[in-house]
Amino acid sequence: MMKENHKLIEKIKALKIKHQAIILAHNYQLPEVQDLADFCGDSLELSRLAAKNNAEVIVFCGVYFMAETAVILSPEKKVIMPDITAGCPMANMMNADDLKKLKKAHPQAVTVGYVNTSAEVKAELDYCCTSANAVAVVNALKDYKEIIFVPDKYLADYVSKQSGRKLISWHGFCPTHVKILPEDILREKKIHPQAKVMVHPECLSSVAVLADAVLSTSQMAKYAKTNPAKEFIVGTEAGLVYCLKRDNPDKKFYPASARAVCPNMKLTTQEKVLWALEELKDEVRVPKVVREKAHLAIERMLSIV
Ligand code: 13P
Ligand code: SF4
Repeated sequence: MMKENHKLIEKIKALKIKHQAIILAHNYQLPEVQDLADFCGDSLELSRLAAKNNAEVIVFCGVYFMAETAVILSPEKKVIMPDITAGCPMANMMNADDLKKLKKAHPQAVTVGYVNTSAEVKAELDYCCTSANAVAVVNALKDYKEIIFVPDKYLADYVSKQSGRKLISWHGFCPTHVKILPEDILREKKIHPQAKVMVHPECLSSVAVLADAVLSTSQMAKYAKTNPAKEFIVGTEAGLVYCLKRDNPDKKFYPASARAVCPNMKLTTQEKVLWALEELKDEVRVPKVVREKAHLAIERMLSIV
């Protein structure tokens, strides 16, 4: 078994060289996929890495909207997904028509959308944002009386509290993060009273209020490294705990809930990475008109942060 695995990894390495490919993996990917990757990171970090890199092929181990964002930022590259059926249920909770209707109902509003949206939705936005910069983006929109913020109602609630702005939100949510309950945090705090609590802003508002820090996945990685605390309760998808432990062997990390597993993030395996590189598919494509409009929303975000 071990030998088979070694052979598979050798084949992947050879194909990477042959096709000038790099492997990017989101922080929630299976440990064996994270170990294969050239870079691990949060959703936007990975797309920016894809754009900065001079590889010809990007093997994107994550979910569909993330690979689409990589295509938007670097259309000249071939972006392939080892399992193209890996979607994000939250991103699928709003389509472009839903957003057009919301914009029509609030014609004066500026529109801000989370990176967890389809390319078609991004093409309808004024500003994109990520979990790492959503508050900064909304804070920069002082000149607007009304702000539409989609699709995550919990992220909207968190941003609204932090910025003091009333937001017109949508009813989207992450089915994985809502499984982390306030009682999970309270239980873990009781067991580990010295631990710092860090949670993702996609968590329920009743969970976010119990945290020491509300952070994106890569911000959590930095917080764990730089904070003098030795123990952390981790309120996000369980996969993040693997890289936190790997990068901080002297610290302890406790997942807030074993239920918080994103099934879509676990669809990618080492075998599927090999098959993707052998056949150079499935390629993620975004039509030029959509891509260019979506790119503007991302550019506007980057100009703020
Ligand atoms: P990050 O951008 O914080 O990695 O989050 C992406 C995501 O899908 C969280 O569920
Ligand atoms: Fe989407 Fe939630 Fe999975 Fe992140 S954890 S990819 S928001 S379903």
